[in-house]
Amino acid sequence: MDRTTRSMIAGIGVAVPRKIITNYDLEKIVDTSDHWIVTRTGIKQRRVLEKGRSNVDLSEQAAREALDRAGLKPEQLEMILVGTITPDYPFPATACLLQARLGASKALAFDLSAGCTGFVYALTVADQFIRSGACQNALVIGVEVLSRIVDWEDRSTCVLFGDGAGAAVVTRTNSGRGILSFDLGSDGRGAELLMIPGGGSSFPTSRETVDQKLHYVKMNGNEIFKFAVRVVEENTLNLLKKAGFTPADLDFLFLHQANLRIIESARKRLKIPPERVPVNIDRYGNTSSAAIPLLIKEEMDAGRLLPGSLVAMVAFGAGLTWGGVLATW
Ligand SMILES: CC(C)(COP(=O)(O)OP(=O)(O)OC[C@H]1O[C@@H](n2cnc3c(N)ncnc32)[C@H](O)[C@@H]1OP(=O)(O)O)[C@@H](O)C(=O)NCCC(=O)NCCS
Repeated sequence: MDRTTRSMIAGIGVAVPRKIITNYDLEKIVDTSDHWIVTRTGIKQRRVLEKGRSNVDLSEQAAREALDRAGLKPEQLEMILVGTITPDYPFPATACLLQARLGASKALAFDLSAGCTGFVYALTVADQFIRSGACQNALVIGVEVLSRIVDWEDRSTCVLFGDGAGAAVVTRTNSGRGILSFDLGSDGRGAELLMIPGGGSSFPTSRETVDQKLHYVKMNGNEIFKFAVRVVEENTLNLLKKAGFTPADLDFLFLHQANLRIIESARKRLKIPPERVPVNIDRYGNTSSAAIPLLIKEEMDAGRLLPGSLVAMVAFGAGLTWGGVLATW
């Protein structure tokens, strides 16, 4: 039996806001149509966080469920990593706010900014800490409140995104299960393809930056689309190769949910049947770093994702960044 020390996801939890915004609701706000959104993106509705709640509220809800499922107490956590681009504040980190909420008194805590690749990047960091022996149990969260950073007058972006959180308790194991390989990358030459220009040290918030709407997401959708289609295939193949597998071996490819056409194109290039590449973009839109844990939770709850399954988690996003993690579930 394989007794290699690895890290594995021992519990998953999710949180999505109750409020649903359909494409028909958006038709009343911007010049768009349900037909355009469904045919170009696959999205039918998205969740939007209620006023008065924030990132840490969603994070806490997802984290508590993940801890319950893993059978761990917050005091047993040694690190909390929050992958997000919509923290509660520019600083301190939302991970620290969460650490206090949970009473995770032994945990170091920090946020990680890798756009929609946030969950995969954070999972890989936790994996390194665990396999090096520096820590036993980590909490990894992918969470976004994108509704607070999109311009609800810009039809090219506001129809795409949704809010949500997914949490994973990651723990050391010698069971033969766990993370087998990872493949992360970045290309900052594409930084301006997807960004919020204002509010940082380049363009600190001022009356002018607000008038120019620099505090909202700016995106070159066509270029991101081309980048995504290319990188998903390369990334998935690299990830599998590192552990000696091929796409045919995969039980599940949990792919970032940015556009149904990106998902379908990657799936066909990799020759993986549809039932192995789950989709929930129709119901949640692009929830950025929350998308992959949300997908995993659905497959677990449906009884389809079982111990021993070979799963790849693959994402791409702002930075530009991309990354994949391969694991035996
Ligand atoms: C954004 C995206 C859906 C646009 O789809 P597309 O097929 O490339 O559409 P285009 O941008 O070429 O726009 C086509 C037309 O639709 C219009 N359009 C854009 N948004 C629209 C909307 N919500 N409703 C109706 N029309 C819209 C455009 O203005 C354009 O009109 P024009 O031809 O008169 O100029 C697609 O490029 C995409 O998904 N890109 C990736 C984005 C992404 O994943 N970002 C996050 C990465 S993590």
